[in-house]
Amino acid sequence: MVNRKVGIIGAGAVGATAAYSLSMMGVCKEIVLFDIVEGVAKGKAIDIGQSTHYAKRPTIITAADTSADVRDCDIVVITAGVPRKSDMTREDLLLINAKIIKSVVTDVMTYSPNAIIISVSNPLDVMTYVIHRMTGWSSNRIVGLSGALDGSRMAYQIYQKLGYGAGQTGTLVIGDHGQNMIPLPQKVQVGDVPTTDLLTDEEFAEIVERTKNGGAEIVGHLGTSGYYGPGRAIAHMVEAILNDSKIVVSSSVLLNGEYGYTDVTVGVPVILGKNGVEQIIEMTLDTKTRAKFKTSVESVREGIDILEKNGFFE
Ligand code: APR
Repeated sequence: MVNRKVGIIGAGAVGATAAYSLSMMGVCKEIVLFDIVEGVAKGKAIDIGQSTHYAKRPTIITAADTSADVRDCDIVVITAGVPRKSDMTREDLLLINAKIIKSVVTDVMTYSPNAIIISVSNPLDVMTYVIHRMTGWSSNRIVGLSGALDGSRMAYQIYQKLGYGAGQTGTLVIGDHGQNMIPLPQKVQVGDVPTTDLLTDEEFAEIVERTKNGGAEIVGHLGTSGYYGPGRAIAHMVEAILNDSKIVVSSSVLLNGEYGYTDVTVGVPVILGKNGVEQIIEMTLDTKTRAKFKTSVESVREGIDILEKNGFFE
């Protein structure tokens, strides 16, 4: 990738934090921000651009006046969407965000036809599915942020229990990026030591619960959802793709027979490299985890069905 240009559509809290993380890491040459609300992308591009004075490597941060100016990107990150308001049902939110994604994706297809898309807007797995259906692109080119974030939240919870091993902890979370996600703390290691030698069953249960509620806990304190965790996790994925690192990270991807499912998007471990999803890794799941995975897949399918019933894909 010669230019290493990243487009970020939706310059809200998550999109801007992803841009800031990327610029501090210095992994791309250029970042272009776009937001539907006038002034947002411009203001943040200036602010982040000025912060890059102290970064290790320069990154050019620009704001696009129109979506047509987000062009020729190697990667496009989509964080555009609206948060759920008190008078909105889950179905209302789904339809509103799906419509936003539809319009955004049409522009990405026109102006960055060779990009890899990282999908971030919620409900994550369903929005990732929408992008697959809208683009019809090869499935490796579309990848949803799920396990990179949920896994970092799980590692944080493990650290809260142990008080050591920061940065040395595995991050395995599969399933949907919602209430049916499946954190697997008992499957990871801390500094190469299996967590099963370090934590009790009660502690595992608590880690699982707190990981699942990781986003809600932040909302409880802040009144708004988190953005440092998501922003940095997006940057982790972008870096892996631009550098062709071939790291293993759980992500929401379109299954085509893997784990026994087809035509649904859900979080599983994948290898991320220059082609996006280089490979889906099929882990052996025990009976209990398989049942949880089924529930998770079904919850994503419910969302897809709502869109189908409302004629969204016609
Ligand atoms: N094109 C471009 N930007 C858009 C569009 C659109 N069609 N529609 C909405 N936006 C912008 C909004 O103006 C807003 O600035 O998307 C941005 C979303 O930012 P925030 O409301 O701050 O939400 P944020 O916390 O960043 O979350 C973004 O990521 O994690 C998910 O659930 C979260 O779906 C949400 C998304």
